This record gives sequence, C-alpha cells and structure tokens, in this order.
Amino acid sequence: MDYRVALLAGDGIGPEVTAEAVRALNVIADRFGHTFAFQTGLVGGIAIDETGDALPEETLQLSRDSDAVLFGAVGGPKWDDPRAHTRPEAGLLAIRKGLGLFANLRPVKAHRDLIESSPISRSLIEGVDLIVVRELTGGLYFAAPKRRWNTSRGRRAVDSLKYTEQEIRRVLQVGFDLARGRRKQLTSVDKANVLESSRLWREIAREMAEENPDIDVRHVLVDACAMHLIQQPRDFDVIVTENMFGDILTDEASVLAGSMGMLPSASLGTRKVRKKNGGLFGLFEPIHGSAPDIAGEGIANPLAAIMSAAMMLRLSFGLETEATAVEAAVDATIASGLRTADIVGTGAGRDSVGTTEMTDAVIRRIEDPARSRVPRPL
Ligand code: IPM
Ligand code: MG
Repeated sequence: MDYRVALLAGDGIGPEVTAEAVRALNVIADRFGHTFAFQTGLVGGIAIDETGDALPEETLQLSRDSDAVLFGAVGGPKWDDPRAHTRPEAGLLAIRKGLGLFANLRPVKAHRDLIESSPISRSLIEGVDLIVVRELTGGLYFAAPKRRWNTSRGRRAVDSLKYTEQEIRRVLQVGFDLARGRRKQLTSVDKANVLESSRLWREIAREMAEENPDIDVRHVLVDACAMHLIQQPRDFDVIVTENMFGDILTDEASVLAGSMGMLPSASLGTRKVRKKNGGLFGLFEPIHGSAPDIAGEGIANPLAAIMSAAMMLRLSFGLETEATAVEAAVDATIASGLRTADIVGTGAGRDSVGTTEMTDAVIRRIEDPARSRVPRPL
C-alpha cells in the first residue's frame, strides 16, 4: 500500500532523529511491500527564519493532504527572546490545533534492560507500563484571554484555563477506550480542590465512569499524582488529564523509562485514514525537545523517533505486524547492550554509540527478524 507522510523535522536534533525514523520506515517498506512517500515541510525556528511564520500555511496544507505527520522537535536558544513576537513552539501548538489533534498518547514503559538508567530504584519501576492521554488542544495552552500588557503599576500577563464539556468528554472517551484494551483501569487527573475547570472535568469523568462500569476509575489530584508516579508507578494503567498537567506529568514519567530519548508519542483526532485497515490520522513525535546542546553531534538517541514511527504504522495505517517488527527490533537492540549517551547509565565499562550506529543496529534486526529474538542473559 502507498502512504503519504509529511515530514516536519524542525530544529536542533529534530532533523537528525527524523532522518533515522525515515531510514527505519524505508526498510519496513522494502520488507513488507509498502511505499512511504515523504514530503518535507518547514516548522519551528527554521520556518521562522525562512518564512517569518513558525507554521507556514503550506506546511499545514501539506500535513492535511498527508496520511500522517512525522514530527521532529522545535525550538532553540536562537529564538528564545521572550519579547520575540513569535516562537518556534507556536508552530507545534498551531499544527496540533489546526489538525484537531486533541488526544496525545504518551506510553511509558520501563524497559527491563534500561532499569539501571533510571535514578529510581529497580523495585519501584520494574514492570511499569502506563499510558498518559494528554488533552492537547484546549486548556491553559490555548484559551483567551492570553496576553500581556503594561499598567501604571507594572507589567501584567494573563493565561486562561477553559474547557467545554465536549472537549473533556472526547478526550476521556479516548482514555476509556484505551483502558478497555489494557488493564481496565483509568486515572483521571485534575485539581478539583481548587480549579473550577477541574471540577467540571471530575463531574464528567464521574458520569462517564457510570456509563463504563467495566472500567475501574480513580480521580487523583495532580499534585498527588506527581508523587504517586514516583512512589507507586506500577499502580497506573491509563492516565487522562488536562493539557498542561499532562505536559508536566509526562516529563516526570519519562524518568521511569530511563530517558526522554526513549519515549514516543501520538497525537490523534477524529479524522480517519482512508486506506484498507486505516486508523486515525495523526502526528507522531518523540516527547523530547530539540536538545540544542547536542544538536549536530550525531549522539542523539533516535529510538523515540523510531518508536513514534512504529506508533504511526499501528495507529494511522493499521499495520500492526510492521509496528511490532520495529518495536521488537528496538527491544532486541537495547537487550544487546547498545546504548546512546543518554541511556548509557552508570554501569562500569559501558561505551555509547552514536545516532546512526543505533539505527543501523535496529535496521539490521528489522531486515532479519531472527536477530530480534536475541537470547536474553539472565
Ligand atoms: C511537549 C513540549 C511542548 C508542549 C512544547 C515544545 C510546546 O513540551 O510536547 O511536551 O508544551 O506541549
Ligand atoms: Mg513537554
């Protein structure tokens, strides 16, 4: 089958890691007889430099005309002036909103061979397998008024936290559907002891819990959730939460997986991909940022980008076997001991490999699946 993929590499290590995801996808295409037509678009700082706009209309249109979007990362010190009238991050927010991608799925697994890379003790993180569904197009990130102004008594600024019932319902529904295919447990995270929007969120989550009696629903305050994520991370299955809470909690949760460089994500809406077995149109990106400090050095971890591509295969194209082939190759590569600098850990005598070497090792295992069944040392 033929698929059109918009490639928005962005800034910093974005281009390096998306290039590796493309290499892995091309190997999948060869092995399984697909064609991925990649078309590149500008986004972020590079788009500001070249067009004055962090999300040029052309890029949005290209994305709309594609079956999925592979996204790298945006931002960097060059565009960090707080007084600049636009920022690279605005491009990412605008594309999420412009494509209606309201549900951001961030799976977090503690890879058994990476447990030593996490500062958290083995006994706490062994077996962690959770997924955060972050609301992505509402809340504090988007609502008006959102501005800054001067008064005779100094500068002022305002951001607004607004949600409609429909926005809350549809993202919680994604959580319920996911929970049903997993361990049937859903944690709805809010700040209902303080925020009116959270009280509405909790009320709707309670109503939906009644409509979905097969799912065990818990309501947890965001501050307590932050603590539980470290103290009892195995207790979580599906977490659903507001945009900014989800932003913060997923950086925290990434520590459980050993590194931000390991975590993929998918942002989905309601549009369907019109292909046989097609799933939902989406944007797929590593959760890490543009890491300007290591950009261009060839040492970035490509695995989050490669696993984001696997999520695209599964969720947008319905290519489960292909997605599993990528994930199995990544697992086997990690099990074989290969590490990029971010996951090298403190173990004695460990050397790290670069971005390309890591991808080469994954690709060898995609090409030759027998290699994805490496016998594991005890
Ligand atoms: C993320 C990032 C973005 C966000 C930034 C880059 C705008 O932190 O995807 O988690 O806050 O959503
Ligand atoms: Mg973030």
